[in-house]
Amino acid sequence: MNPEKLLIERVQRTYPEAKEGDILKKFEEVLRRNNLKRDLFRGDFQRKREWKRVVKEVKREIYHLLRQYDRASVQEMEDLFSQIASEYRENGFSEKCLKLHLELLSKHVSTERRGNQKDFYQRMWKNIGEPKYLLDVGCGINPFSIPFMGLKRPLYFGIEKKRKYVILDNKYLKLISNRLEPGSQVIEFKFTKRNVNVWPSLPYFDVALFLKVIPAMERYDKGIGNLLLQWAPAEYLILSGSVRAMIKRRKVFYREKKQILGMIKELRYEIVDKFQFPDEFVYIVRKVY
Ligand SMILES: C[S@@+](CC[C@H](N)C(=O)[O-])C[C@H]1O[C@@H](n2cnc3c(N)ncnc32)[C@H](O)[C@@H]1O
Repeated sequence: MNPEKLLIERVQRTYPEAKEGDILKKFEEVLRRNNLKRDLFRGDFQRKREWKRVVKEVKREIYHLLRQYDRASVQEMEDLFSQIASEYRENGFSEKCLKLHLELLSKHVSTERRGNQKDFYQRMWKNIGEPKYLLDVGCGINPFSIPFMGLKRPLYFGIEKKRKYVILDNKYLKLISNRLEPGSQVIEFKFTKRNVNVWPSLPYFDVALFLKVIPAMERYDKGIGNLLLQWAPAEYLILSGSVRAMIKRRKVFYREKKQILGMIKELRYEIVDKFQFPDEFVYIVRKVY
């Protein structure tokens, strides 16, 4: 077997979502960095020390690559935003404009997932109705999903810790401001267990989105999820996690589901809906006071 084919097989056995192109790129980089020639891997090369090192290093790099939420540079995102802005100013949400939105959304691992964004949101509102006041916690670049949400002039309020997203999001919200309620914005804020309860009071929202956010926050600040769900000033909370997650799919799916269900049970929130898309499971709960 040729080394490229074998390497792809070995890496994808551990990380099924790893892309062939990325693996091959990392292969080249590892060869270069270690001063190894590809010719070394001929015949019975699998027992060679160098081969084992290459496999190990490529796997490590792919692991780090998959753990990144944001694969694109700020410049790449800004460039796409400029294209969206000029197309939008000329033709509104044209097919081309929406395609550019999807391209931008694909630069973030989380928002990339909803291959069919419209279906995702339509299913979301099916049993709870279309919200007017929408809170999006840990929103990332989710404001770019607004055209797919099918909402009439919503008030969108996002909270996000990464400044680069906040800046981009607010530029976008300004661009489409005539389709939103005044006051729509994303604010830069990093929730911690200590600051959740000292927040200035926010207005009451119809829905608070926690899309793929609870597991991400819990990873760094255990216990924050429960506090945030109690804090969220909304009637309905929409909680989601990964099915085909960033690393080692199955384990992540079961772990995230257990984690989210555990919180819902502990807080005795009522589950009003649940559904699953190929790469995301969703629970909609109602806060019971
Ligand atoms: C997995 S992404 C999900 C993004 C978005 N909700 C979506 O569905 O596309 C998690 C997001 O939460 C943000 N985040 C993580 N911890 C946070 C915290 N403590 N406070 C605010 N935002 C946070 C990250 O910067 C990231 O954009």
